[in-house]
Amino acid sequence: MNTYDIIMKKRDGNALDKEEITYIVDGYTNGSIPDYQMAAFLMAVYFQGMNHEETTMLTMAMADSGDRLDLSAINGIKVDKHSTGGVGDKTSLIVGPIIASLGVPVAKMSGRGLGHTGGTIDKLEGIPGFCTSISEEDFIRQVNETGLSIVGQTANLAPADKKIYALRDVTATVDNVSLIAASIMSKKLAAGADAIVLDVKVGSGAFMKTLDDARLLAKTMVAIGTLAGKDTTAVITDMNEPLGNAVGNILEVQEAVECLQGKGEKRLMEVSKVLSAHMLVAAKKAEDYEEAMKLVDDVIASGKAFEKMKEFVAAQHGDASYLDNMEQFEQAAFTKVVTGKDIFMADSDTINWESGYLTACNNQEIGMSSLVLGGGRETKDSEIDLTVGIRLQKHLGDRIDESDEVAILYGNDENKLESAYQRFVNAYTLSKDNTFNNQIVYEVITKANL
Ligand code: URA
Repeated sequence: MNTYDIIMKKRDGNALDKEEITYIVDGYTNGSIPDYQMAAFLMAVYFQGMNHEETTMLTMAMADSGDRLDLSAINGIKVDKHSTGGVGDKTSLIVGPIIASLGVPVAKMSGRGLGHTGGTIDKLEGIPGFCTSISEEDFIRQVNETGLSIVGQTANLAPADKKIYALRDVTATVDNVSLIAASIMSKKLAAGADAIVLDVKVGSGAFMKTLDDARLLAKTMVAIGTLAGKDTTAVITDMNEPLGNAVGNILEVQEAVECLQGKGEKRLMEVSKVLSAHMLVAAKKAEDYEEAMKLVDDVIASGKAFEKMKEFVAAQHGDASYLDNMEQFEQAAFTKVVTGKDIFMADSDTINWESGYLTACNNQEIGMSSLVLGGGRETKDSEIDLTVGIRLQKHLGDRIDESDEVAILYGNDENKLESAYQRFVNAYTLSKDNTFNNQIVYEVITKANL
């Protein structure tokens, strides 16, 4: 067997077998296959695709490329959650405390982000003292004692994915259903949970731009999880505008706290509650979805979910007093308010209007404006500025007048603030009529409707 023949076989549209896929994954992980051959292989997969069997074999080879976490020392059904990624997505910070406060153990390994904002781990590091790298022993002890721990992914959890993802990122081969499904599911399977709830994003700020593509990705991942013996559910949710009001690391932590206090933005609250309810059903804490939703509403209203967040932060050495007094959080030095007039001026078709509706936005561009401010990583070695970002005051479907505040941009560099402002105002489309469909949850995929 050799790499050249495998690349050619895939380039010509043929299906690969288990030995060939394992050969490529192991060879690239141990360094015997160079970047240029792997890049050619990934591009062949990008254009020719993989069938279900190939995608499953790729997932298993990547999951087995390192250690699999053993969570058997944690009592109860462990449910993990993963999002395919989007702008302002901070649901892990909300869902974790909600379900942990209902007695479902959450042992979560999370990544750092590439792109517009940091990952969950970067966001948590915005809380002074919070420690994201603890030993496996302490991680398990904390979940047994507190019900919740979120730590950085160890180097040896699906190392093949780490290496392949970095190469995909620079070779324009990220947005392929088989490669995304294998990347996500390999990490989830290696992370050891009994059940998995996936949040598959669709829209201008997501990898999947159409509902058909998102459904295909959701079904592919549910099929892989089911084959691996894990109860797997995928919820397809909207990413045509940022989720919630905040984009940026510390701003997102603050918004997660508002949600746990029951004061969150409605679309963010909805997605967080829906994901939590599916996790509760998977953990067998509720008979059905309706009962689960009631439990979720109760722990938010009683303050138990917020108390759990503080307990978890303190257990990982973070200063939980910041969550009670959020004005203590470090803030960016400069702010720039974006008004309705700024958006009218950028949208030349509507320049004469006195008011209009925000009906669409290029969400990717909103993410880019946060990146320009310094809130995300352009390369895996970039430093993140945890204080910068965007706070939206208006959402798609809202009517805005010239003087309305649409958003506040937070930055530490006035030139970056100006560039971010330009990208932000150009991202929106205004219309005389409200044509925006503000559905937030589109579909739920389980093994029953594959
Ligand atoms: N998230 C991942 O973990 N992998 C992908 O390929 C895309 C999103």
